[in-house]
Amino acid sequence: MRNRVTRTLSGAVLIAAVSVGLAGCDVGLPAGRAPHREGNRLDMIDQPKPKPQRGDLFGRRATGGFEPPVGAVAIDEQPYRFTQAEAAQAGAELINPLPDTTDVVAHGRFVWDNVCITCHGPVGAGDGHLTSLFPKPPSLMTQKVRDWPDGELFHRPMRGQGSMPSHARQIDARDAWSVVRYIRHLQAEQPVAPPPPTPGVTQ
Ligand code: HEC
Repeated sequence: MRNRVTRTLSGAVLIAAVSVGLAGCDVGLPAGRAPHREGNRLDMIDQPKPKPQRGDLFGRRATGGFEPPVGAVAIDEQPYRFTQAEAAQAGAELINPLPDTTDVVAHGRFVWDNVCITCHGPVGAGDGHLTSLFPKPPSLMTQKVRDWPDGELFHRPMRGQGSMPSHARQIDARDAWSVVRYIRHLQAEQPVAPPPPTPGVTQ
């Protein structure tokens, strides 16, 4: 009899201890739940701090992620100096700094196969998978694009054109110059495409 009372008592004490323990712990609470309890310095999970997917502490930014200040330039980065309308100027002034080597072309192909192919298709004919959702790009095998200097071809993905947005956030200058080399190889292999049927889509 005495034993049973003791067991019941210790059971109750255990349950009480576990409940008290759990009450002080925030593990497993859903994201964005109730505010931080001021003063509880031991509560490392529930403390004010920016989190990538949440509003920041002072409500100034949409998320806790830090965007670089406007105009910030990465170390060793040269900002691209031509505006979207200056394609011809870019063509006249820029020279492809990358040689036409196997490595460069292979990197260009990597960029093409991961970025451009979705719209421009496997060999630049303008038949990528996304063309059922987005405007169909003209072929990059036309005489017009073949005649562009490398700098003008480089300029389009850097600054965007018409319905194609700039890709400068996805690819850097090395990627873009490599992809120009790869497009030149495609042009050497593919037949010349006729000009696009809808004049005015491109310039
Ligand atoms: C989201 C789809 C999409 C992606 C991805 C894309 N493009 Fe385009 N691109 C287009 C469209 C659409 C046009 C035609 C834009 C216009 O003139 O309105 C175009 C036009 C161009 C032109 C000009 C062609 C001409 O005859 O005027 C070049 C060059 C070009 N893209 C290169 C690239 C390269 C290089 C990449 C990859 C780094 C790329 N594009 C990625 C959709 C895309």
